[in-house]
Amino acid sequence: MSMEEQLMNLKNEALSLILSAEDGKTLEEIKLQFLGRSGKLTLALKDIVKVPVENRAEVGKLANEVKQAVEEALERQEGFVKKETITKKRAAIDTSIPGIQPQIGHLHPMTQVMLDVVEVFKQIGFQAADGPEIETDHYNFEVLNIPKDHPARDTQMTFYLDTRNSKVTPGEVILRTQTSAMQGRVMQKVKPPVRVIVPGKNFRYEQVDASHGFEFWQVEGFCVDTHIRLTDLFGTIDYVLRRLMGQDIKLKFATTNFPFVEPGVDTYMECTVCKGKGCSFCKYAGWSEIMPAGMIHPNVLKAVGYDSQKVSGFAFAIGLSRLVTLRYHMDDLRLLTNPDLRILKQF
Ligand code: DAH
Repeated sequence: MSMEEQLMNLKNEALSLILSAEDGKTLEEIKLQFLGRSGKLTLALKDIVKVPVENRAEVGKLANEVKQAVEEALERQEGFVKKETITKKRAAIDTSIPGIQPQIGHLHPMTQVMLDVVEVFKQIGFQAADGPEIETDHYNFEVLNIPKDHPARDTQMTFYLDTRNSKVTPGEVILRTQTSAMQGRVMQKVKPPVRVIVPGKNFRYEQVDASHGFEFWQVEGFCVDTHIRLTDLFGTIDYVLRRLMGQDIKLKFATTNFPFVEPGVDTYMECTVCKGKGCSFCKYAGWSEIMPAGMIHPNVLKAVGYDSQKVSGFAFAIGLSRLVTLRYHMDDLRLLTNPDLRILKQF
């Protein structure tokens, strides 16, 4: 048998075996049988040196073609066999078995409490407004009776935006330090009576610890009309906090100072953990400061274009993070921004 005939026979034998192979293991065996180190085709290729020189190039070319054809057939059949196995496996899946339920998330505790706050205020006629987190010094401070040299600015560790490559006066654009900044924006546009709340995030350059964050949530609120008195403020705070935290909570008021209110009022709630006895949660005070407030200062009313002789109003801020930690007895604010699902799943 000539070398050419021998090669063609090997090719036919290999291809017919490959085409009838039904699994990867058989194909592997065929590969070894023909292309392995002592495979039939490998040995035949080695014999090419025995072919007379004048025919060698032609036989060599044929040998390479045969080898290539066998390799290609092997590859094609491998792909085919793989697909077949997958289809067979698919057919074996029992579709009547119940599937795996995807996990369903829920609102973050902070959002849940915020929506509760909005709902309670809505029922007593307050509308919710949204404002910018990037604010101007004007609305964040000036309108609120806190001029450039006012010492109250020291308590509001402010983040200033880099305005070097713009036309903005340096120091004029900041991250708002208080949602009170929306008082001016709303009151300049809306004539009394106004009853508005502003839930939102604020930013201060604070050292982060268990009770301070550099980013915190507040719900600011204000109400301006004719004949608004301090007792309206007390009544509103009392009603809202009892709706949110339970009818049996204990509250007390004290005077305080904020430049945009006169008088300023601080609201304290008896610690929900120790019932006023003093514990590490309330830092042994028995009470937690929860809602600063006051009667809007005439300078603020004037700055927004209201007639301070004709209208009066009150303003307040609820520390939303504080409300959440008091409601759920959490001793560290940072738990609220921890992404660990074991914490979030508890709400
Ligand atoms: N904006 C104040 C702060 O973040 C809190 C505040 C106090 C808001 C008294 C008020 C208010 O509306 O009347 O420090």
